[in-house]
Amino acid sequence: MRDALIIGASGGIGQAMTRLLQARGVAVTGLSRSADGLDLTDGSSVAEHGQALAGRSFDLILNTTGALVIDGHQPEKTTDAIDADAMAAQFALNATGAALTIRHFAPLLHRDGRAVFGSLSARVGSIGDNRLGGWVAYRAAKAAQNQILRTAAIEWKRRNRHSIFVALHPGTVETPLTAKYAARHPTITPDRSAEALLGVIEGLTPEDTGSFWDWKGQRVPW
Ligand SMILES: NC(=O)c1ccc[n+]([C@@H]2O[C@H](COP(=O)([O-])OP(=O)(O)OC[C@H]3O[C@@H](n4cnc5c(N)ncnc54)[C@H](OP(=O)(O)O)[C@@H]3O)[C@@H](O)[C@H]2O)c1
Repeated sequence: MRDALIIGASGGIGQAMTRLLQARGVAVTGLSRSADGLDLTDGSSVAEHGQALAGRSFDLILNTTGALVIDGHQPEKTTDAIDADAMAAQFALNATGAALTIRHFAPLLHRDGRAVFGSLSARVGSIGDNRLGGWVAYRAAKAAQNQILRTAAIEWKRRNRHSIFVALHPGTVETPLTAKYAARHPTITPDRSAEALLGVIEGLTPEDTGSFWDWKGQRVPW
């Protein structure tokens, strides 16, 4: 791996992945909302940042953006708490935003060799693995992101048979995103998550495109 683009390089996992790749000698281009004004909920912002990188090419593009709480909307405990604005905000970032990263950044992937586009989804976005209920909007937006990744994988296989598009679950990671929610769960540090995810990414082959993996290297059901 030589050239990586980290979208969301300001986040807990995005920062850790940037540090790790740099330590391994990979040239990392980082983009974020706070440092660069890249707002995934604004289609023209994503398009402009994609255009600004025209002529560059990457063998790894990783979307590490996402949010559980947006505009103060806490994750729902029951279906009674479903709220239209909260649902729309979740979809705008975790589903449409992820789709826009594919639309505007995937064309920067190397065309004639192994090239990985990974997106941080979440195990709770798995429909097959949903045993607890709750968190309706976040789960649904991540499930939509998974479908978008899978759809893109099929299309991109025709453009570059070495391309690998995957959804990734990073573990329960000690970042601002989980600060209020991880108390009853075993957690890992962002550095450990990044190291494990990079190991998973390095082990992927083109036959794996269109799949969903956790940080331990286990397949997650859709
Ligand atoms: N932490 C966990 O345990 C866990 C578990 C499962 C899945 N995940 C997933 O992993 C990903 C990263 O999570 P994290 O824990 O690293 O979260 P984090 O530390 O809160 O970082 C979130 C990142 O998303 C960016 N972001 C938020 N809204 C954005 C927007 N509208 N436009 C552009 N960027 C935006 C933030 O940018 P700025 O800070 O620059 O505004 C930041 O870079 C998320 O997709 C999350 O759902 C995390």
